[in-house]
Amino acid sequence: MTVAVLRLAGVTKTFRAPRGGGDVVALSGVDLDVREGEFLTVVGPSGCGKSTMLSLVAGFAQPTAGEVLFQGQPVLEPGPERGVMFQDYALFPWRTVMGNIEFGPYALGVGKAERRGRARELIQLVGLEGFEDRYPHELSGGMRQRCALARMLANNPTMWLMDEPLAAVDLQTRIILQDELLRLWGDGGSAKRSTVLFVTHGIDEAVLLADRVVVMARRPGRIKAIVDVNLPRPRAAQRSSPALAELVGRVWDLIRDEAVRAIAEETN
Ligand SMILES: Nc1ncnc2c1ncn2[C@@H]1O[C@H](COP(=O)(O)OP(=O)(O)OP(=O)(O)O)[C@@H](O)[C@H]1O
Ligand SMILES: [Mg+2]
Repeated sequence: MTVAVLRLAGVTKTFRAPRGGGDVVALSGVDLDVREGEFLTVVGPSGCGKSTMLSLVAGFAQPTAGEVLFQGQPVLEPGPERGVMFQDYALFPWRTVMGNIEFGPYALGVGKAERRGRARELIQLVGLEGFEDRYPHELSGGMRQRCALARMLANNPTMWLMDEPLAAVDLQTRIILQDELLRLWGDGGSAKRSTVLFVTHGIDEAVLLADRVVVMARRPGRIKAIVDVNLPRPRAAQRSSPALAELVGRVWDLIRDEAVRAIAEETN
């Protein structure tokens, strides 16, 4: 039996509503086991608790009830073994590309020569050579996301926590970055893959990348279904396969009602 590298057991998270109101139950009784090296994507309507789930795993917040166990230990705070790439956890605008990527190792006390060397390797890996001294505002959206990816990888995390990392880039850039992300993860076969939790609104993207797609429902936020994606890897060659389209249809069927209800609630 393989041991779960990440386990959520009965995880509930409630927030006190602003201005009085009742509590918001962002997650309710979520159970999830993630195996080492698995690529999990998470989809669900706006407000179903996807970001909340990731921030609990990252250690930015604590569950109200239940447990989040990483390698068998409760997650109490952020740690270098869990790298994050969040859409709203943007780059430091006052640091260059190099400065942003070096920051994680710097914060851990890694010496200058070593962290420079590591940052250079990562810059090459994500294709940002020649842009080391640029500031985030001098980069395109796609380049910024490459930089954020390199920053996430800088401490060699065994778990990648990614919250809509490609939502802000155009479609062509997104496709290129999906392929690069898969390559970095080891889609073509690799000795040791990191474990990935990847939140997205793109159902095609969720299926293309994942070993399993977690479909969430809202009010209260919980797991509605988990869809196995038994497509061969590497996936780049699968983009237009009928098997992929069939799975996309299945995931969409699962979330359609939820999404329609979420929109109705937001507009009422
Ligand atoms: N810090 C907070 N304080 C109060 N309520 C919060 C807080 N964070 C999240 N919530 C509420 O918890 C619920 C889940 O939010 P969350 O951001 O996890 O959803 P999501 O699935 O990531 O949505 P989206 O797809 O729009 O990013 C929402 O109702 C949200 O308003
Ligand atoms: Mg979110």
